[in-house]
Amino acid sequence: MPKILVTGGTGFIGSHTVVELHNAGYEVVIVDDLSNSNPKILQQLETIIGIRPEFVELDLCDEAKVKEFVSKHSDIAGVIHFAAFKAVGESVQNPLKYYRNNFYSLINLITAFNSNVKLVFSSSCTVYGQPDILPVTEAAPTKKAESPYGNTKQIAEEILEETCAVTPDLKVTSLRYFNPVGAHHTALIGELPIGVPQNLVPFITQSAIGKRGAITVYGDDYDTVDGSAIRDYIHVVDLAKAHVAAIKRLESGKAESNYEVFNLGTGKGSTVLQIIDAFEQSTGQKLNYTIGARREGDIEKVWGDVSKAAKDLGWKAELGISEMMLSAWNWEKYLKDNPF
Ligand code: WQD
Repeated sequence: MPKILVTGGTGFIGSHTVVELHNAGYEVVIVDDLSNSNPKILQQLETIIGIRPEFVELDLCDEAKVKEFVSKHSDIAGVIHFAAFKAVGESVQNPLKYYRNNFYSLINLITAFNSNVKLVFSSSCTVYGQPDILPVTEAAPTKKAESPYGNTKQIAEEILEETCAVTPDLKVTSLRYFNPVGAHHTALIGELPIGVPQNLVPFITQSAIGKRGAITVYGDDYDTVDGSAIRDYIHVVDLAKAHVAAIKRLESGKAESNYEVFNLGTGKGSTVLQIIDAFEQSTGQKLNYTIGARREGDIEKVWGDVSKAAKDLGWKAELGISEMMLSAWNWEKYLKDNPF
């Protein structure tokens, strides 16, 4: 079985991708510095897939340690690189922490493989900013990010594209996520925000379970059907499956170039108020919310054109908003009875 290195594999999207890689017949080795995730996830993964994935605690900013790890794992057939700091607000307060971590880790990883590696990179629709045309395609221009976090994604993509242009043995696929939400159907893994959730859906589930107060809807004066902002929410399990499809494409050698980019969304947008309604409808839980001011740095509306992933990855999202909400709620209820 080909072995895939998953950096940040104890995180939200990383852990779900480990499950789907196993289901697709891959062996996995996880590296993570556990700075933003919980090692108990390894036990949860063992319960889900029946084996405990190989795990190495590693700070990818430590160049020597990364080289040592790679030299001891010559059987790695590909890499999925999730490990990065991703809190938009924190990145504004501490830009250097984000630039240092997100770039050192990426560059150390590629260098350790002597730039001869198949790599799937975790990027984000945040690189588009507020698109001028919707749905947004991969050909749309990127815009100056609103946050250092978003900037690290944009610049990382440029680093990868420019390096691939002069390094034929480096084969990279950047996956631009829209809004990942939900949890595995077993409710054994899911999103584990640290502190007060900044993202909408974990705040909703924590409000519903009584851990937080009322939800604040950040603005109802946008040019949308109900005034609240639109995003393209995608189930984290669908997103995980797309990473397997991306690895398979890299292994197949069918890629037109050694640097490719794909949007990973559903192609459909939902407003904040529609998400709140969908949560109430699918879980039967009543939510309390108030309308507040717009959040600094938010864009008004975005949803993805996902035809390229359908054509070239043979992948499309299958799970709908109701399953996203229900799985997120089941995970929140599991956490209440089994605190990490
Ligand atoms: C969604 C919508 C908020 C909380 C961010 C990152 C992006 C990606 C996903 C990593 C917005 C509204 C939110 C709340 C609200 N992260 N909202 N009340 O900002 O679209 O994207 O997370 O890849 O890169 O930028 O996601 O969930 O924070 O917000 O009204 O309490 O919900 O204004 O319209 P966002 P989000």
